[in-house]
Amino acid sequence: MSNEKIESAAPHVLPFLPYADNALEPVISAKTIGFHYGKHHKGYVDNLNKLIAGTEFADLSLTKIITKTAGIADKTAIFNNAAQTWNHTFYWKSMRLKGGGEPPTALKQKIAASFGSVDACKKELSTAAMAQFGSGWVWLVLDGDKLKVVKTANADVPLTTGMKPLLTIDVWEHAYYLDYQNRRADYINAVLDKLINWDFAADNLA
Ligand SMILES: [Fe+2]
Repeated sequence: MSNEKIESAAPHVLPFLPYADNALEPVISAKTIGFHYGKHHKGYVDNLNKLIAGTEFADLSLTKIITKTAGIADKTAIFNNAAQTWNHTFYWKSMRLKGGGEPPTALKQKIAASFGSVDACKKELSTAAMAQFGSGWVWLVLDGDKLKVVKTANADVPLTTGMKPLLTIDVWEHAYYLDYQNRRADYINAVLDKLINWDFAADNLA
């Protein structure tokens, strides 16, 4: 599914999870999904709708709101809630039941050209996730003709710097603390080995 398909116009709605809340167990528990999707993600959507009501942003698409508020000091709250709404929808699609394994051929060739191998790409994602100090996200992106791994802090999203996100992993503590406490590396590596949705990344590359 392409990035554009997670667009929504006001009022912004919490999209359905693409799987049951216990589908990612044992890597991510139903309890974590319950809080993360049902409280955190929902909270960003609800806050966004409150913040934009009656403003110039009320009728804009989600990505328009993100690009128009990025880096604008007095629009930080709108940016944060819009970007977190988008980022979480993208994160849920970046994982699937029985994920991991080998990417589809075209993506695998692109990964090999950019990183050397799928394992090297996964290692770079894992290293970037560990290097992100505090809350944020790690992303596989298309930058020009090359695939890259980038990390962003807090709500920041590579959309605002012209890169095309292919997949993401949430490294805010709320994504893993109930299941892994402080062991971020265990969460990241389990997601990469067992849940990562290479088909979603390949669709975004197309
Ligand atoms: Fe999150």
